[in-house]
Amino acid sequence: MHSVAILAAGKGTRMKSTTPKVLHKICNKPMLFCIIDEAKKLSDDIHVILGYQSERIIAQLNLLYDGDIKIHIQDLTRYPGTAGAFIPGKPDFKHSHVLILNGDMPLVDAESLKGFLRDEFCVGIFNSSAPHGYGRAILEKNDKNEEARVIKIVEEKDCTDEQRKISTLNAGIYSLKVSLLESSLQKIDNSNAQGEFYLTDLIEIANETKRVIMLDEHICMGVNSKVNLAQAQEIMLDRLRSLAQENGVIMHNPKSIFIDFDSKFFGECEIYENVRIENSILTDSIIKSNSVVENSTITSSEIGPLAHIRPDSKIIDSKIGNFVEIKNSTITKSKVNHLSYIGDTQIDSGTNIGAGVITCNYNGKVKSKTNIGKNVFIGSDVQLIAPLDIEDNVLIAAGSTITKDCKSGELVISRSLQKNIKDGYYRFFKDSKKS
Ligand code: UD1
Ligand code: CA
Repeated sequence: MHSVAILAAGKGTRMKSTTPKVLHKICNKPMLFCIIDEAKKLSDDIHVILGYQSERIIAQLNLLYDGDIKIHIQDLTRYPGTAGAFIPGKPDFKHSHVLILNGDMPLVDAESLKGFLRDEFCVGIFNSSAPHGYGRAILEKNDKNEEARVIKIVEEKDCTDEQRKISTLNAGIYSLKVSLLESSLQKIDNSNAQGEFYLTDLIEIANETKRVIMLDEHICMGVNSKVNLAQAQEIMLDRLRSLAQENGVIMHNPKSIFIDFDSKFFGECEIYENVRIENSILTDSIIKSNSVVENSTITSSEIGPLAHIRPDSKIIDSKIGNFVEIKNSTITKSKVNHLSYIGDTQIDSGTNIGAGVITCNYNGKVKSKTNIGKNVFIGSDVQLIAPLDIEDNVLIAAGSTITKDCKSGELVISRSLQKNIKDGYYRFFKDSKKS
């Protein structure tokens, strides 16, 4: 087994952000966590090298990985650059070999990294027609038909015009003996265009043959800018959507659908265009166009079009229609078909919520709950002023404002009396003529 070192100390200047680069998310997961999760499939000894805003990153790491990941702090002032991560002291690796990964490669997967777990010095290389920003790999081919060897990597800013045309690129994935890393690091200096200690100089310095591991362009993408971030997310979305489709999800215009790492689908779900699903569990449900589902569980239900299911909602055997917002509510075997806000509410089976019903759950100070029983019929445009208990078999008339609990079997109506004033129209509009 190899130890793993993930380089995540850089500021990420090209991101133009106050958030450290590796905390930027694709499909709702920080890039650094994407790569840690893959590394965890290969190693029991994972080190993350931090520097810029390290405390902010450590706080998030501890939250998710419970102290499982080892932290090493780089001195960015004295030793800037990817090799600076290991100067003057390197992390205390448990194993004799280390796999080193750039922290800004969120698309890399464990399967592709398996090839690096060997005794030799391995360097990840890929081909791309868009080499901008990557180090160019200078390969040496021999006539014996043997594999090409990489002899050095030249950073784009240090390239000659000729070298800049090279399209074999350094991925930022290396594996080697820890002892070789240690001895080679002593020879690295910062005499280059950026005045940094380049880890890539190892390739020329280390006195051992380097094996080239050819990789797919799509897993090697380094995210340096927000343009790259969006491109990487598109690639990850394609992967997540394909996986969901392979597991039985029907998607209409999949390119327009956003799902994240924490969205799970069971049974046969159907998702229409422009839907966004985050951290939710869907079973045998249909989500129609332009709906958003966040941190919720949807089972055997139909949602949308244009519905917003906000966190902590549970919708079971129900129909939620257009322009309906649900938050922190459990709805079982019921219908909320049009233009309603249902918050902090429990709705039991057989209940129908009419158009424009609003649960008034917040009085400006506290949030209050609404309980609605079985077989309740609530007419259109009713305001339910929480806290409120509506028992089973209650009928609430349209246009009512309900402030008191409703008992089983009651018809509840709260409206001012309607007056019909004869010829009132003509008195109001004095110039109008009767026709
Ligand atoms: C690096 C490689 C380049 C390669 C490319 C692949 C070097 C010198 N260059 O360039 O050959 O083609 O990745 O994507 O390694 N980091 C630190 N400490 C630092 C600076 C950076 O830990 O002092 C971390 C960053 O947080 C980042 C990773 O190292 O996760 C790569 O750094 P970045 O500045 O993005 O390197 P590139 O210029 O992309
Ligand atoms: Ca990079």
